Amino acid sequence: MLDARGLETTAANDAAVRNFDTTLAQYLRFGTETGDALKRTLAEDPEMVLAHCVKGYFFMLFCVPALTGKARGSLDAARRSAGERGATERERRHLDALDAWSRGEFEQAVAHLETILAGHPRDILALKLAHYLHFYLGDDENLRDSIGRVLHAWDETVDGYGYVLGLQAFALEESGAWDEAEHAGRAAVERNPSDLWAVHAVAHVMEMQDRRREGVAWIRESEPRLAECNNFGYHLWWHLALFHLDLEDVESVLRLYDERMRADLSDEYLDICNATSMLWRLEERGVDVGDRWNELAERCEARTGDHQMVFPDVHYMLALAAGGRDAAVERMLDSMRTFAEGTATEQVVMRSAGIPLGKAIAHWYRGEYAEVVEVLAPVRYRLPLIGGSHAQRDLFHQLLIAATFASGRYETARTLLSERAARKPRNPWTWKRYARALAALDDDEGAALARETAVRLLNA
Ligand SMILES: [Fe+2]
Repeated sequence: MLDARGLETTAANDAAVRNFDTTLAQYLRFGTETGDALKRTLAEDPEMVLAHCVKGYFFMLFCVPALTGKARGSLDAARRSAGERGATERERRHLDALDAWSRGEFEQAVAHLETILAGHPRDILALKLAHYLHFYLGDDENLRDSIGRVLHAWDETVDGYGYVLGLQAFALEESGAWDEAEHAGRAAVERNPSDLWAVHAVAHVMEMQDRRREGVAWIRESEPRLAECNNFGYHLWWHLALFHLDLEDVESVLRLYDERMRADLSDEYLDICNATSMLWRLEERGVDVGDRWNELAERCEARTGDHQMVFPDVHYMLALAAGGRDAAVERMLDSMRTFAEGTATEQVVMRSAGIPLGKAIAHWYRGEYAEVVEVLAPVRYRLPLIGGSHAQRDLFHQLLIAATFASGRYETARTLLSERAARKPRNPWTWKRYARALAALDDDEGAALARETAVRLLNA
């Protein structure tokens, strides 16, 4: 059978393939119907190789140890079917990718996906998953070039072209090509307003360029579509809250936090990452967040041994430390150390960046601010290894800066803020703290100028 993009697909009937097409279309737009569409696919053909494989991929995307076990189960079902019924080389390669991914070998998994894409550049499933893995490997160059490598096979006439533009937009944004990113992202949204990954890419451009008011308007435009979106919608609400935070509109941030970001108190990893990183930012700005940490800490108590990815792990640590769960913090640090002894992708990342981050967070909540600087400063350029976006990882750069002040290391604060002001010249948060560092070092004139810049930017 042929799928929507003309790729040979092993299936018992056409209805299964059409439902499989719907599953991918839903997945690409973070649709709430994704799971149902996959169920329908497997109802039409209970042995469809790629459907079982996609089920395994979806389990992996939850980033939960128990579901990684289920992903292995889906892999077994897919392999059984491939053995009995046969499968194309492309499908077999997908099984290799799922196998590697579920063993924690992200580089191997993404290499399989890229091999698929070299022969089948219209395999949008491989493209989207490679995008995800390059992103969590913190590999901005491959994130960008992965899309570039397949563009020769795509144009308006190919089903799903808009989504490719959306992927390209985000990849360009993370590699710092902001103008090109915005162009691609807007083109994708024009074709398909439900392409929330493209909406998100343009929001990231606005975040990186400190276009706060534009950012608020941009996300609000997509509000009707967020209702049809899975929990990725909470991440867009997080971005909106971030723009409000930069506008120093704390009331809106807290409202978005309670009514949107934590509306259903979910424990999906991205939702916890959004929430913890927003609460930390609020507290650093002197906002009393009440007992909001408690609910997050409660959920994270059960996740001290997860280690599916370092990125969520360090956010779980944040909730535990902020929530005063000292025993869980120690338990998690121990577990991180044991995990870091292995050689799988995230085990290596844990050793080089995860443990320093975990320790820095624990030190911060113990009031050991000099230790935060000592642990975090040497690894700050290594942080991309944990994956996530520049905007998300900025939390840890802010943590380092806050710790330099709290430990009276004003020269280090000045150095960090000087480089940050050069990189983010329109960011009031940066200029305010820069002013504080300069004042502490008796540069009154410089401090006054930095303060004026902050006020001017805030009022712009
Ligand atoms: Fe984002």
